[in-house]
Amino acid sequence: LSRPALPPEIEARLVEPELAGEFSEVERLAVHAAIAQRRDVRHFIADRELDESALQRCLEAAHRAPSVGLSQPWGFVLVRDRQVRARIRESFLRCRAREAERFAPERRDHYLAHRLEGILEAPLNLCIAVDLRPGDEPVLGTTAQPEAIRASAYCAVQNLWLAARVEGIGIGWVSIVEPRVLRHELALPAGVEPVAYLCMGYPRAFRSTPMLEETGWGRRKPLASVVHPNGRWVDSVSAAPTRSRA
Ligand SMILES: Cc1cc2nc3c(=O)[nH]c(=O)nc-3n(C[C@H](O)[C@H](O)[C@H](O)COP(=O)(O)O)c2cc1C
Repeated sequence: LSRPALPPEIEARLVEPELAGEFSEVERLAVHAAIAQRRDVRHFIADRELDESALQRCLEAAHRAPSVGLSQPWGFVLVRDRQVRARIRESFLRCRAREAERFAPERRDHYLAHRLEGILEAPLNLCIAVDLRPGDEPVLGTTAQPEAIRASAYCAVQNLWLAARVEGIGIGWVSIVEPRVLRHELALPAGVEPVAYLCMGYPRAFRSTPMLEETGWGRRKPLASVVHPNGRWVDSVSAAPTRSRA
């Protein structure tokens, strides 16, 4: 397809990226440290409000996430109202009961012993939602993989999670909650879907390892068990058990 010629300096920039700064050694290590020390947090210091400027930086980080066709399909719904949160927590309790039934009896009590949310304890809940409503023209990059829109919103979640970590703010992701309850409580229009319901606050501690690893529920797979180095998926590579049976 031909397109009208653009001014030469703009043409050049379409293929040649402009130079951005290099990272210093300290900055490089800091990024890796933030990734390694990010934790899912379910225990918060009650009543300690978030620093507003730190929250703003976290939202900016989320909003800088990559998105298919630069669609930026996310919306961030800040939820402070306790009654709304209490109703969302009721949904959590229903879902948790349903989920518990899916485990073998000997695992069920272990499942129920875990703290799996901090909806009321955290000073802020944040729902990242994705706007799936069609616009005037197709989104670049979504014809073969329409799910790329939703994937973009997940990228925003991860940016937020990492930025929060370096601000000393903990985030706990609650997927044990009914989307219909979130749609209703947060007034999401038809076509706008919740992708992540997050509890945000100052943690009582950042654990050094995932809680589910500490409690023996599961363990991190070795990297080698998930890398398929020869261009083909080899099942035996990833067949390592994901949870300890200790
Ligand atoms: C999509 C998603 C949904 C999750 N949902 C829950 C949840 O409902 N409750 C919970 O306690 N943790 C939830 N988690 C946190 C995981 O249990 C946690 O990420 C994992 O055990 C690894 O621990 P870490 O995040 O501290 O490294 C969720 C994580 C993701 C990525």
